Amino acid sequence: MRRKISLVPFIFVVTLGMLAFFAGGCKGEPTTNHLQRAAVVETSTPVPTSTPLPTPTATPTATPLPSLRREAKKYNFWIGSSFDAGWVSDDPLLVDMVAREFNILTPEVAMKWEVIHPERDYYDFRRGDGVVDFARLNGMLVRGHPLVWDFQLPEWVLVAYEEGSFTRDEWIDILRGHVKTVAGHYRGEIYAWDVVNEAIADDGSLRDTIWLRTIGPEYIAMAFRWAHEADPYALLFYNDNGGEGMNAKAQAIYELVDGLIKDGVPIHGVGLQMHVALGSAPAADELAQNIQRLSDLGLRVHITEMDVRLQYSSASEEQKLASQSEIYRRVFTVCLQAPGCEVFVTWGPTDRHSWIPGYTGHPDAPLLFDEFYEPKPAYDAIMEVLQKGKD
Ligand code: XIL
Repeated sequence: MRRKISLVPFIFVVTLGMLAFFAGGCKGEPTTNHLQRAAVVETSTPVPTSTPLPTPTATPTATPLPSLRREAKKYNFWIGSSFDAGWVSDDPLLVDMVAREFNILTPEVAMKWEVIHPERDYYDFRRGDGVVDFARLNGMLVRGHPLVWDFQLPEWVLVAYEEGSFTRDEWIDILRGHVKTVAGHYRGEIYAWDVVNEAIADDGSLRDTIWLRTIGPEYIAMAFRWAHEADPYALLFYNDNGGEGMNAKAQAIYELVDGLIKDGVPIHGVGLQMHVALGSAPAADELAQNIQRLSDLGLRVHITEMDVRLQYSSASEEQKLASQSEIYRRVFTVCLQAPGCEVFVTWGPTDRHSWIPGYTGHPDAPLLFDEFYEPKPAYDAIMEVLQKGKD
């Protein structure tokens, strides 16, 4: 699992250092350093009697190690990843890492329709509750994800659609029941809901989904209204992928949410998923411009599912990780600087948990921590931005 670090060179260096230290007549720091004293004992070098050991005057207080979460708190900023309670049940290392580094979690699949509403009259909240409980225990927020989507639907919905089993009114009842029951179950527990996920196609038209076909474009406004009735405390988001820079899809998202606001629909933000690859990430100025125009509508913006694929590049491993870190740095910097952008979530805590290898069929390493849970250059880049501060 973790890389083994050999202690041999370390002991060798410390021993040499000690010999040089005493041979040099105790130049530099006095012999009060804890490590040096330990090394003296280990190498059986006599403690010089002329230098009395100091009397401790106070219990030394440990300085906590920096973590993304600790740094983000300075800005009231939320940084996190997607999550599943099953991942941590037998992995204490991951519990430590997630609780130390993140202050917001998104259930990666636990609240999707096929998991949470597997039969028409049966909801299964166990997996979703696992995420909410873990977050509560560790003082974290939860982004609920997603109430309405066209993927990961249960068999009963797909079969009913195929067989034309329901009228439009019945489909409205079904969608209303789902949104109100799930948002109602988590009422007061969810910081922000992705109410509608991926409703727009890449060309900017409405995506051809079961909900568009059975109910019509009104399903989007309906879902936001039902979610707000069920949980008036949650911020309600439209979430999508590929509309991060200033392209046709971003324009369509902008027009959709602008229209919703004008119609008095309760919508509070837009989630930019940010599933990108080396060479395909949005330019900083375009991303900033897109975030700005959404903020000008009075909306918040969250980076909701960021990962950066390496697999299409032929550069060396080291170069790929360096380019990846620059993309994370760029997106994170723009978000931190923008007053309307207050949440940054990656799609998985570590490369071991990423959906990308399964989705693309190729190995990859798209996240901030490697498969041994060690921070990558991308982590260092974000930490640097946080420690440098806003301009
Ligand atoms: C993905 C999950 O990561 C996978 O585990 C699952 O099999 C499919 O869905 N956009 C979204 C996410 O909004 O819900 C998707 O998550 C990735 C793309």
